[in-house]
Amino acid sequence: MRVLMVAPPGAGKGTQGAVIAAHFDIPHIATGDLLREHVARQTELGRAVQHHLDRGELVPDEIVLDIVRDAFEQARRRGGGYVLDGMPRNLAQARALYQIGLDLGMTANVALHLRADDDELVRRLLARAALEHRADDTEPVIRKRLALYHEVTHPIVAWYAERGILVTVDAMRPVERVGRQILTALEAMRSLVDHVPESARRPIDLTGLGAAFGSAD
Ligand code: AP5
Repeated sequence: MRVLMVAPPGAGKGTQGAVIAAHFDIPHIATGDLLREHVARQTELGRAVQHHLDRGELVPDEIVLDIVRDAFEQARRRGGGYVLDGMPRNLAQARALYQIGLDLGMTANVALHLRADDDELVRRLLARAALEHRADDTEPVIRKRLALYHEVTHPIVAWYAERGILVTVDAMRPVERVGRQILTALEAMRSLVDHVPESARRPIDLTGLGAAFGSAD
């Protein structure tokens, strides 16, 4: 299974990425985590990107694309599956990522879009800030990250819909319910991936299926 996630800050990319990775036994490639590791180790790359992370701005495309190409090469040695969390963030990254996928025979089978309201996202990230101490989890920087998501990241959802690999899930529900809905959708996609070409598929929107996953709303 090869999954990439397109979702705003706080929607649950890290949380659900770990669930997907464990379920399918595939690597969880999180660009934010990889960048923060460089910052923590004060590598040359870490020193170059720190101010972008602290201000909630995007790191230059070529830096994250190099990181992801390396991570894909490692994932290929493990069998070729992956769940990619944090990339792509704009259309240029989406196109470049597709090219890397073509080069390595690892284009995504599913683009997983987690949908959630801004007020809830701000609430979650401020709650996390009280426990962890991410430099970008202050309210002004959270709002800037959200604005950037709406402006340059969210538009690529339509690109994945056109490619026939989009699955949209309502991420406003409790963590376990969101996880269950995602795994059900990905298991269903697994057979489609093997038998139906992308060009013959349609986007899948599960946001209206609350009752089927035990939600009262
Ligand atoms: P990144 O680390 O990717 O941060 P982000 O997109 O802002 O997302 P978060 O990690 O804050 O949230 P998440 O969606 O993973 O949610 P999580 O599961 O943690 O990127 C950081 C920075 O790195 C960027 O700003 C940029 O500078 C740089 N960067 C990264 N990738 C880049 C790229 N491709 N190009 C350029 N720059 C890049 O959950 C959040 C909280 O909510 C947790 O406390 C969790 O427990 C809770 N939670 C999760 N789900 C639920 C739920 N359903 N109900 C209640 N609480 C929940």
